[in-house]
Amino acid sequence: MITKPSVLVARAVFPEVLHKLEQHFSVESNQDDIVFSAEELARRLQGKAGVFTTGSERISAALLAQCPDLRICANMAVGYNNFDVPAMTTAGVMATNTPDVLTETTADFGFALLMATARRMAESEHFLRAGLWTRWSYDMFAGAEVHGSTLGIIGMGRIGQGIARRGALGFGMKVLYCNRKPLDAETEAACQARHVSKTELLQTADHVMLVLPYSAEAHHTIGAAELALMKPTATLVNIARGGIVDDAALAAALRNRTIAAAGLDVFEGEPAVHPDLLTVPNVVLTPHIASATIPTRLAMADLAADNLISFLVHGKALTPLNAPAP
Ligand code: DGY
Repeated sequence: MITKPSVLVARAVFPEVLHKLEQHFSVESNQDDIVFSAEELARRLQGKAGVFTTGSERISAALLAQCPDLRICANMAVGYNNFDVPAMTTAGVMATNTPDVLTETTADFGFALLMATARRMAESEHFLRAGLWTRWSYDMFAGAEVHGSTLGIIGMGRIGQGIARRGALGFGMKVLYCNRKPLDAETEAACQARHVSKTELLQTADHVMLVLPYSAEAHHTIGAAELALMKPTATLVNIARGGIVDDAALAAALRNRTIAAAGLDVFEGEPAVHPDLLTVPNVVLTPHIASATIPTRLAMADLAADNLISFLVHGKALTPLNAPAP
């Protein structure tokens, strides 16, 4: 009898995706959705050839050393700062993520957060719910213009490009971007975007959008010094990763009106949120939901599952992040 490889699905997932995995593997699932400690994750990975992870599972060198049977970690996320990819490569463990399937949905959300932030939607909704709306007035919750304004995008990968297209083509915005590497001329033209330095972008943009991946170099890309370069009327949106913004410095800048407003979907140390951010009114806060539509989350889960199947059954990952020696 051929025994199926064993895999762990580390968080709750769509039942149809579990079912698909069960056709190929002996599956240990976690439909109670407990977030495992590092010790518990290592314990559950004993004898497992693969693991389906989300951003909440950290795959470190220390964990890998305890899991000699592990051959692949398939992340249900495009971001993979929860993976120590060099350590995985050294340990001979394949790493995969879920690019492309969430690009447009995440770009939609980035734009929604920009609109909500610029037009003060959360602040004004709280005011209304609190029963404070007694009359119209000419400047009540007057926000920043979006159409025709200047959008600055830091990180111009697929999602950044999606946001640029929305801004330029849908809202007539002038789009500036900064990226480690400028786009090729054809992609730049399709996005109607111009490459500038980070300083020029921060000084010029009416709305700054962060879409860059997290790395040690990207830590605190926006801190007190960068916020001081921005216009006092500007807004900042972070749909990238916690740690890209110095949240304490941002809370101070919002309180002091160094900038007008911010929209944040990701936080340093999430799901904890810096307490100062909870007390400033001019920030829209959402719990890391930029890719959260059912079709997109299903496509992400499907791709992570397909990576496990394709690698463990057919020997080739679909969206690899590394090339460990076999
Ligand atoms: C991603 O895909 O990286 C998202 O942040 C997870 O929802």
